Amino acid sequence: MDRITIFDTTLRDGEQSPGASMNVEEKLLIGRQLEKLGVDVIEAGFPIASEGDFAGVKLVSDEIRSCQVAGLARANQQDIDRAWDALKGGADPRIHTFIATSPIHMQHKLQMEADAVLEQAVAAVRYACTLTSNVEFSAEDATRSDIDFLVRILTAVVKAGARTINIPDTVGYTVPREYFSMIEEIKNRLPHGGDGVVISVHCHNDLGLATANSIAAIEAGARQVECTINGIGERAGNSSLEELVMALRTRPDNLTYTTNIVTPQIYPASRLVSQVTGIRVQPNKAIVGANAFAHEAGIHQDGVLKNKATYEIMTPESIGLPQNSLVMGKHSGRHAFQEKISDLGYELEPEQIETAFVAFKKLADKKKEIFDEDIDALVADEIIRIPHYYKLNFVSVNSGTEAMPNSTLEIEVEGKVVRGAEFGDGAIDAIFKTIKQLTNTQSRLLTYEVKSITGGADALGEVTVRIKEDGLTVMGQGAHTCVVVASAKAYMNALNKLEYKKRNRPQVTV
Ligand code: KIV
Ligand code: ZN
Repeated sequence: MDRITIFDTTLRDGEQSPGASMNVEEKLLIGRQLEKLGVDVIEAGFPIASEGDFAGVKLVSDEIRSCQVAGLARANQQDIDRAWDALKGGADPRIHTFIATSPIHMQHKLQMEADAVLEQAVAAVRYACTLTSNVEFSAEDATRSDIDFLVRILTAVVKAGARTINIPDTVGYTVPREYFSMIEEIKNRLPHGGDGVVISVHCHNDLGLATANSIAAIEAGARQVECTINGIGERAGNSSLEELVMALRTRPDNLTYTTNIVTPQIYPASRLVSQVTGIRVQPNKAIVGANAFAHEAGIHQDGVLKNKATYEIMTPESIGLPQNSLVMGKHSGRHAFQEKISDLGYELEPEQIETAFVAFKKLADKKKEIFDEDIDALVADEIIRIPHYYKLNFVSVNSGTEAMPNSTLEIEVEGKVVRGAEFGDGAIDAIFKTIKQLTNTQSRLLTYEVKSITGGADALGEVTVRIKEDGLTVMGQGAHTCVVVASAKAYMNALNKLEYKKRNRPQVTV
């Protein structure tokens, strides 16, 4: 079977999803999970974009040893030098350089003639190859480019030393048959039929065709697919790793290709990315959605009870979906908790396990049954959402049919304790007003959502907020058995992300 290289760009294109931003620790956390998942290449960011992006790529590259780590660079020496500075400590670093090749991008965005674009691409690849032999070139907006020009530029960059050539469907415009023909034609027209060079594809999901297009491209000869966990990414997102991998795994009779992916790590990866970014997975999302293995209609339930294969084409175990999510209660000890944490796919330091265990015990006092989803929320709250700038010490509210809603809060602003109180239209409004006053921030609340993590009146409530300030949008989450506290935590989490983004404002975007 032909082996497909999985190039994961959750930390780069995925991070470009509206509202999703990751700090360096979060990137490393996801990077480690991608390593366990067995991806071949991790694209960790765009180092010239900001100090934060540079630091994230550097940390992932320095720490992750069993995957190649890539950094994105426009086709110029300055970007490539910056990418290389971030990547060079890595085990197998890859420079990924790109330039747009479609008439619309060349004319309006780059304002360059085609020949100048070709020259710049060749010069960039040649320069990158003086730093490493592991160079990938992308022809941005390839699917709206002239095929003769594409063949010309791709042939030239291969000659200049590119080992991988990527043919992105940047705006999610192509359809499977067209993409198949394009990849096939490029392969046939490359010197020696493209021998010695890996053809890669990178599909966006604007028409919901990203996975189908990626598979069509594989059938035409592509041997690398660029994708993200949960399909997150610009606009409608990128091709989703779990969909592609499980399609290949489920239909080997039809699709004779393999990957190195350890499929039981798919579900933990999906959950982690969702927790870190605050982007929920839609319930009907293929493979990892909450309903992907749920059977509602009586006739389906009856069939599944008789034989699971009647309505299930893959098993929940194959993607690492926990089968019995009821875990523990207040009598569960440290050891059982530690085992549960690692069963769920978390790799925590001893002091992080201790912090999470203390929070678990507190929760167990309030909630009789603790489910996997509760543990996820708890780890996210205590370990992942590190309060770098603003920390909540306490919140209390006074609200009801007779009271004029007001809240009192104590928070730390970069270590300095401040207290304040405000009235509001309701309890949540009062909290958010107090937080804004104490942090001296002007953010606008765009959305507020609350969801119960499991069933029952004692369930944890998870609040997600989306806020905007100064052109920057971020999401924040918080979980607690009291939605008032969860709301305060979510707002503080969003403000921490906003502050990080302000200090690492992208100077350049793709
Ligand atoms: O969508 C795209 O074209 C990209 C390139 C930078 C590879 O993300
Ligand atoms: Zn992209």
